[in-house]
Amino acid sequence: MCGIVGMVGENLKVEDLVVSLQKLEYRGYDSAGIAFLGDEFEVFKKKGPIDILKNGLKEKGSKGFLVGIAHTRWATHGEPNDVNAHPHTDCRNEIAVVHNGIVENFREIKEYLISKGHKFSSETDTEVIVHLIEEEFEGDLLQAVMKAVRKLRGAYAIAVMHRKVKDLIVAARRGSPLVLGVGNGVGLLASDVTPLLRYTRNVVFLEDGDVAVVKKDGYEIYDMDGNKCERKVYYIDWDEKAAEKGGHKHFMYKEILEDPQALVNALVGRVKGDRVVLEELEPVEDLLKGIKRIKVVSCGTSYYAALVFKYFVENFTDIDVDVDVSSEFRYKRPHVRENDVLVAISQSGETADTLESVRLAKRHGAKIVSVVNVVGSTLDRESNVSIYMNAGPEIGVAATKTYVAELGVLYLLGLKIIELNGVWNEETKTVLDRLVRMPELLENVLRKDPQIRELSEKYKDYNHFMYIGRNYGYPTALEGALKLKEISYIHAAAYQAGELKHGPIALLDPNFPVFAVIPDDSLFFKTKNNVIEARSRNAKVIALGTEGNKSLYEIADDVIFVPPTHESLYPLMMAPVIQLFAYHIADMKGLDPDKPRNLAKSVTVE
Ligand code: G6P
Repeated sequence: MCGIVGMVGENLKVEDLVVSLQKLEYRGYDSAGIAFLGDEFEVFKKKGPIDILKNGLKEKGSKGFLVGIAHTRWATHGEPNDVNAHPHTDCRNEIAVVHNGIVENFREIKEYLISKGHKFSSETDTEVIVHLIEEEFEGDLLQAVMKAVRKLRGAYAIAVMHRKVKDLIVAARRGSPLVLGVGNGVGLLASDVTPLLRYTRNVVFLEDGDVAVVKKDGYEIYDMDGNKCERKVYYIDWDEKAAEKGGHKHFMYKEILEDPQALVNALVGRVKGDRVVLEELEPVEDLLKGIKRIKVVSCGTSYYAALVFKYFVENFTDIDVDVDVSSEFRYKRPHVRENDVLVAISQSGETADTLESVRLAKRHGAKIVSVVNVVGSTLDRESNVSIYMNAGPEIGVAATKTYVAELGVLYLLGLKIIELNGVWNEETKTVLDRLVRMPELLENVLRKDPQIRELSEKYKDYNHFMYIGRNYGYPTALEGALKLKEISYIHAAAYQAGELKHGPIALLDPNFPVFAVIPDDSLFFKTKNNVIEARSRNAKVIALGTEGNKSLYEIADDVIFVPPTHESLYPLMMAPVIQLFAYHIADMKGLDPDKPRNLAKSVTVE
């Protein structure tokens, strides 16, 4: 939810620390701050996006430093303002802390610290951490941090510096991600790998309970008990340029244009002839043969990708696919038995509810297959098997190209499961063939951008939208409505088209347009009837259908066509359309689609 960076070295520039922080702006952007130690120890924080901090620092003049930490905030405790912004400092203004997560027992700790004479200035839970470290400090920052974090309940990733310690940062994590950059004379840490890519491709993911000392020429990691430990070094082959806007106005737009490439990357090397090859799956292949049911957990856009997977596998096999939103699953009686397979879908691999669902299922004996974009993320490390999306970094808060990559991987996984369960026929071969050809067709869909833009202009001032679809079209309706509401703040509901008449149709009137997902599939005529019903309530209708189907002009005010494909693959084919429609509306309304209000890309707290 918040972003942290830290750097240790010689002659480092404050601007570089801020540039690194900006790579994490998607994690929170209501206030930002920095603490650095050069000739002096300075702390500077500002309400608002990182640019405000940056301009403030510019006015103060360029500074060099040896040790620095920075933070971009997504407020949980205490409103966004200069005082509640991180870093927080102790009573003597010697120790500075940045924190991502929530300290659940902060009230008790605060009372205890107040009784010891500590003075608090903010409303944040984080401030207890720095005073706790001050309380424990006896000349050794590492020891003080170790003692302090043992007293914390909840989630934290922290970076800590001291005005008298010129060569190190102490970092610790439990529940919230923290990554160290390895090599090349600068000590680096961050909430995710993107700020590190300017300096190194070799990274270490801290594990829960780890406390690390980061220096310019190396790092040491200790576990909860204070034992020194080794962690695997991962090589990240993401291109730093991929995390930049490349001349586009917004990351979201650039990332939608990358939909076809994201799909190529998800498929490449995984199809040989007319078969899917997913070597990663080998450890669980025996479990998947003859399996009766598969559980799936995920959140947000990943949940809608999961619904597509459910329709897909259930349409081709007798396997039951139970899909749950992670925040529900983790508190349910899990109905998981020994050697069940649970598929966890998360582009970040850090979504707290999904991680807890996975842990719950594991405790009941399930094997975890994750579909994940971030190599080395917590989900990746805690799964039995990970299938990487390979979508590259996604900066826009609203998932776009990772949705496409998720779908790509899930179709492959679905096809593999279908094959392992004895169904491999002309139809499944056709699906695979069409899937492989899809990236090229997605380029065609993106060429419709000017038309989609015009449509956005026409519809941008409506306050409500109803998205409808059947079967595979239903997850597309859900995802279309989510995209619209999260970045343009227009109310959008999504229903199975057949459900309209059970209530939602009462809402429809000329001011409540319907966005109908209506490809040429086996349920086309059923959906068509629902669209006609909606139109008879004088609702305006946008139909998203298959090229060549002229009958759509008779039932819709506006039509967007996508190329024909197998009916199971329309969610992929239609993804760029629903994304661009929402994007243009948000942009035309003067909103920043990269940073929607109240949202964060990676939801690492419950
Ligand atoms: C947040 C993001 C969504 C994303 C969801 C799940 O809410 O804003 O875009 O779909 O988290 O994220 P995950 O990383 O688990 O796929």
